[in-house]
Amino acid sequence: MTDVEKQVFEQLRACRVVPVVKLPNAGCAEGLGRALLSAGLPCIEVTFRSAAAEGAIRELVRLPGLLVGAGTIRSVEQARAAQKAGARFLVSPGLREDVVKYALAEGLPIAPGVCTPSEVERALDLGLTVLKFFPAEQFGGVGTLKAFSAVYPDVPFMPTGGINADNLSRYLALDNVLCCGGSWLAETALLSEGRFDEIERRARHAAGIVASGIASAGVATSAGSKSGSIGSSRSAG
Ligand code: 3PG
Repeated sequence: MTDVEKQVFEQLRACRVVPVVKLPNAGCAEGLGRALLSAGLPCIEVTFRSAAAEGAIRELVRLPGLLVGAGTIRSVEQARAAQKAGARFLVSPGLREDVVKYALAEGLPIAPGVCTPSEVERALDLGLTVLKFFPAEQFGGVGTLKAFSAVYPDVPFMPTGGINADNLSRYLALDNVLCCGGSWLAETALLSEGRFDEIERRARHAAGIVASGIASAGVATSAGSKSGSIGSSRSAG
């Protein structure tokens, strides 16, 4: 793992929850970013599911302290566009070799989606260190992650898909969960209506769930400790 990958994944692990957002327009990016920062959730995955993605990333990266990544990356073209806009990490729904190879060659941290052991092993063969588990709830959720942890104890996952305030703590309690992604925090409809207060309320609630998990489980936040610690290594370049 390169230093950049390590730094970005450690930041995601410190956040523990990543708002996955489809922005209706780039104009709402600043309000969204400020709401997340005020709530104590300083990261975001801007999905390439709307034409606003690139412009929104450009706006969001101007906010100090906010870690901005790009999601739903399904082509090298999108990966390049996200990188150019300033995204610091990429997330994909599935495992595309061309996208993964591009990101690794560029030193851009990427977490592609997997949901079976064969896909996990293919991803590890490609040199990946952190994997998105998607769609988490539909593919066995916490039970599947527990089974993965028995055979792949060195692989941290970002489960996404069907995660919300009700089941978040069950995922965060697992040692092989780096962080959870979810769209419930900043739904597109809330953004269209300019309801940044509601987004901040949801993000604050999620940050509270993270904090109570840390308090009750004694989860350490330093590198190499519990909760999705990044154990495997790959040399730079
Ligand atoms: C993703 O792109 O990661 C998912 O669509 C998010 O899943 P959710 O909408 O169920 O949170």
